[in-house]
Amino acid sequence: IHEDEQKFVDFATILVQKAGTLVRNAFEQTESKVDTKLSDTDLVTETDQAVEKLLIDGLSKEFPDHRFIGEESVAGGAKIEWTDAPTWIIDPIDGTTNFVHRIPMIAICVGLAIKKQLRAGIVYNPITRELYSAQVGNGAFKNGFPIKASKNESLKKAILCQSLGLHNRVYFGDAWLDVAQSNMRNEALAGVRGHRSFGSAAINMVMVAQGSCDGYVEYGIHAWDVAAPAVIVLEAGGCVIDPTGAPFNVMSRKVLAASTPVLAKDLSSILTHVTFEPEAI
Ligand code: IPD
Repeated sequence: IHEDEQKFVDFATILVQKAGTLVRNAFEQTESKVDTKLSDTDLVTETDQAVEKLLIDGLSKEFPDHRFIGEESVAGGAKIEWTDAPTWIIDPIDGTTNFVHRIPMIAICVGLAIKKQLRAGIVYNPITRELYSAQVGNGAFKNGFPIKASKNESLKKAILCQSLGLHNRVYFGDAWLDVAQSNMRNEALAGVRGHRSFGSAAINMVMVAQGSCDGYVEYGIHAWDVAAPAVIVLEAGGCVIDPTGAPFNVMSRKVLAASTPVLAKDLSSILTHVTFEPEAI
């Protein structure tokens, strides 16, 4: 454990709350400038960029030797540098489409990795003012109160979070829709209680962490969508793996989170899997 880890996390938590005020103010405005990135379903706003700048400027001033992997910096051409240095993995607004449509399911996500190991995660919904946080070995919290994943081991009692992942058409063409739909169909045939789609990977994952939902699977996500919430799910007693059943790799562009290892394995076994080029090694 890095001797200054607590200091890093405390400082980041204050910055995230500051960023939250910025997002909340922008959320209330009717007009926001929306641009697209890789496809028409991949949105970015000035607020995403302003929040990422606030976080990276603040953290790098305080901790000059730290590195950053930020969604909008990478979209702007920055290379992903995945090294042993303390590295902040940042999604300024996870759920940008929700933000643009003023659906209050959004999250500022800040994860910390040291020596390529995820150490801490902060996921903050500035609209509902729910602040989720976790550090390895210390448990997971929502606004300071402990949270726990459900103990559900049965698909038949499970609510699963999922997204159609329309942005994956960029990689797999329309064949992607067959994969996504057959996965949802297999889950339905396995008898799940229902699907939920919150429009933010981080919100889906904290729903698993707090025991509201039991599983979540997604292909095509990025490190910044899952780094912070993965720590929160694990510290809440949940399970985070690669959808194939292999160990979770934050750079592999896919994730399966579940309340228990039994449920994770059963969910994994009914999925059709797809592979992405890892975003870093
Ligand atoms: C997206 C959201 C969405 C998920 C996508 C992500 P963004 O993040 O988490 O729920 O389906 O894979 O890219 O672009 O809003 O930060």
